[in-house]
Amino acid sequence: MANINLKEVKFTEVLNDYINLFPKGAFLTTKQEDKINTMTMGWGNVGYIWGKNIIMVPVRKSRYTHQLIENSNYFTVSVPLNNQYQKELKFCGTKSGLNYDKIAELKLPLYKTELTDVPIISGNDLHFIAKIVYKQDMKLENLSQDYQNKNYPEADMHSFYYGEIIKVYQEV
Ligand SMILES: Cc1cc2nc3c(=O)[nH]c(=O)nc-3n(C[C@H](O)[C@H](O)[C@H](O)COP(=O)(O)O)c2cc1C
Repeated sequence: MANINLKEVKFTEVLNDYINLFPKGAFLTTKQEDKINTMTMGWGNVGYIWGKNIIMVPVRKSRYTHQLIENSNYFTVSVPLNNQYQKELKFCGTKSGLNYDKIAELKLPLYKTELTDVPIISGNDLHFIAKIVYKQDMKLENLSQDYQNKNYPEADMHSFYYGEIIKVYQEV
């Protein structure tokens, strides 16, 4: 277990910059029983629905992450804001947990909060702990044609996982 200090921060403190958080790449970490995996995510939303702060992560059905998150109630998102973990983001964005134990190979330091068994990856600047409250499979026919052609040429659709943001931590 990594030895780190976490300070709870108000979601609104990071709201101004949230739109730029994910396109630079973040770690979406999932766990099912004793299997822990992380993948790079570049898309996602942070917003407000059902009277809650919500983070939505889109996961294509072909991902190992899809298998794990389907069988879990929580996920975490760890965000590097200072260009750290570039090599690791590339690896976790191109290699599947089906074939690699990415966390072991990269020696990613995990840290378990008291909120869920799904760990965060320390060495990142911002961590979201999310409890899944809604999920939805995309329907290709509901998407505008130009988005279909550009993003889903093989119809490998995303499922959207909406997590209530239980806590946001800044690593200090
Ligand atoms: C910068 C970047 C952003 C990515 N964003 C997403 C994403 O938002 N959703 C997704 O399903 N895959 C995304 N991927 C692809 C997955 O990270 C990649 O397929 C990964 O190998 C899946 O790992 P897994 O099979 O262990 O879940 C992204 C890859 C990169 C490099």
